[in-house]
Amino acid sequence: MSTLAVYPGSFDPLTNGHVDIILRGARLFDRIIVAILVNAEKKPLFSIAERIEIAREVFTSQSNVEVDTFDGLLVDYVAKRQAQVIVRGLRAVSDFEFEFQMALMNQRLDAQIETVFMMPAEQYTYISSRLIKEVFSLGGRVSGLVPDLVEQRLRQKV
Ligand SMILES: Nc1ncnc2c1ncn2[C@@H]1O[C@H](COP(=O)(O)OP(=O)(O)OP(=O)(O)O)[C@@H](O)[C@H]1O
Ligand SMILES: [Mg+2]
Repeated sequence: MSTLAVYPGSFDPLTNGHVDIILRGARLFDRIIVAILVNAEKKPLFSIAERIEIAREVFTSQSNVEVDTFDGLLVDYVAKRQAQVIVRGLRAVSDFEFEFQMALMNQRLDAQIETVFMMPAEQYTYISSRLIKEVFSLGGRVSGLVPDLVEQRLRQKV
């Protein structure tokens, strides 16, 4: 049996924390879909099209990483794709409560789907898209925290 995993998020923008989790997922599962949530935020910095393009470019040489979008209930999307696993990343205790709630709710909504949590390498545990945008907009350096392509795109936004 081949295992397909879905890693959902807003990825606005993709950070090296996300990349770390995706690469771990790509090693653990046969295939992983980076599923970009449409309509999550009213005012995203990067459009859905830009986020798709960035993720596809970053994982261009990773043949078992796919980039897609979804809307509505995550479990419906996972079932539609015939995936078995939802991947989520855990940075700190602060992520735990929300992730725990979501995992149990999703388990109730669809008992066939398992949520798997992974920890990133230590140096990425404090990175979030929100913090990257905030630091960058105030003139701080984000190199090493996001893929080079994301850094370039951030510069073009200003
Ligand atoms: N640095 C990181 N290390 C491990 N997991 C992460 C990291 N950043 C995000 N994740 C996980 O990736 C998934 C998608 O998260 P999301 O798209 O909300 O990213 P985010 O960085 O938290 O963005 P935002 O700041 O906009 O909330 C979640 O499971 C989240 O916990
Ligand atoms: Mg988040």
